[in-house]
Amino acid sequence: MTHRLAGKIAVLSGGASGMGVTHTRRLIREGARVISFDLNEGAGPDLVDELGEDKLLFLRGDVRKAEDWERVVAAGRQRFGIPNVLINNAGISPLQSLEKVSEEDYRRVIDINQVGTFLGMRALVPSLREAGGGSVINIASTAALVAFADLFPYVASKWAVRGMTKAAALELARDGVRVNAICPGDTDTPMIRAIADTPSGALPPTDDLPFKRWAQPEEISAAVVFLASDESSYMSGGELVIDGAYTAQ
Ligand SMILES: NC(=O)c1ccc[n+]([C@@H]2O[C@H](COP(=O)([O-])OP(=O)(O)OC[C@H]3O[C@@H](n4cnc5c(N)ncnc54)[C@H](O)[C@@H]3O)[C@@H](O)[C@H]2O)c1
Repeated sequence: MTHRLAGKIAVLSGGASGMGVTHTRRLIREGARVISFDLNEGAGPDLVDELGEDKLLFLRGDVRKAEDWERVVAAGRQRFGIPNVLINNAGISPLQSLEKVSEEDYRRVIDINQVGTFLGMRALVPSLREAGGGSVINIASTAALVAFADLFPYVASKWAVRGMTKAAALELARDGVRVNAICPGDTDTPMIRAIADTPSGALPPTDDLPFKRWAQPEEISAAVVFLASDESSYMSGGELVIDGAYTAQ
C-alpha cells in the first residue's frame, strides 16, 4: 500500500480534542509522523498509547507563546526530523456579541485564533524552507466567509486567518511552501456541542442545513490529508470549503 503522506512530518496545534484527534489519526494512517501539542492534556496521552511513540509526539503548549512553539519545533526535530507540514488547528469559539464582549475577552479570542496562527507560521517557516518546501494548513471556518451573530470575536479572528493565509502564500511561494485554509461548517466536536447546548440561537438548527446534519470530523481530516500531501502541489493561497453547501445559499 502506498502511503499518501510518507516522509511527512507534521506539527499540529490543538491535538487533544475534536478535529485535532481525527486529524492526528488520519495523518498517521497515511504515513506521516506527528508532533502535536495542546493547552490541555485531553486525549493526547491516550493517542500516543494508541498510535505509538514512533509516530506521535504529544506535548503541552500554548499557541499564544512564541517560546512554546520554539520548544515544540525543537522537540519534534529531535524526535522525527525537520517538519514539512504545519496545521494551525487550535481555537476557541465563545459566544460573544459586539456590544457585550469585554475588551479582555475579545483580545483572548484574537490571541488564540489569530496571533496563535501567526506565531505558528513564523516559528515553522525556517523548518519548512530547510525541508525544501512544505505545506501550511490554517483551520479557518465558514465564519471566515460569512458572518454569524453572537460570535463577534470568532468571526473577526477567522476572517483574519483567511487573509493571513493568502498573504503568507504569496510571501512563501518562492520557497516552495504552500499555505491554504480549510473552512469547515458546523462539525461534530466538543466546540460545536458547547454552542448548541446554549440556548442562544447562534447556531442554525440542523434541519435548516442543506445536508440536515453537521460534518463529521473525519470529513475535515480528509481535506487536511489532501493539503498535506503532494497531491495538492499547485494549490496555495486558497481555501477548501467543507460546509455541506451552507455558504452556497
Ligand atoms: N467544530 C466546528 O463546528 C468548527 C467549525 C469551523 C471551524 N472550526 C475550527 O476547527 C478547529 C478545531 O476545533 P474543534 O471543533 O476540534 O474544537 P475543540 O474545542 O474540540 O478543540 C480545540 C482544541 O484547541 C485547544 N486549544 C485552545 N486554546 C489553545 C491554546 N491557547 N493553545 C493550544 N491549544 C489550545 C483546546 O484545548 C482543544 O483541545 C478550531 O480552530 C475551530 O475554530 C470548528
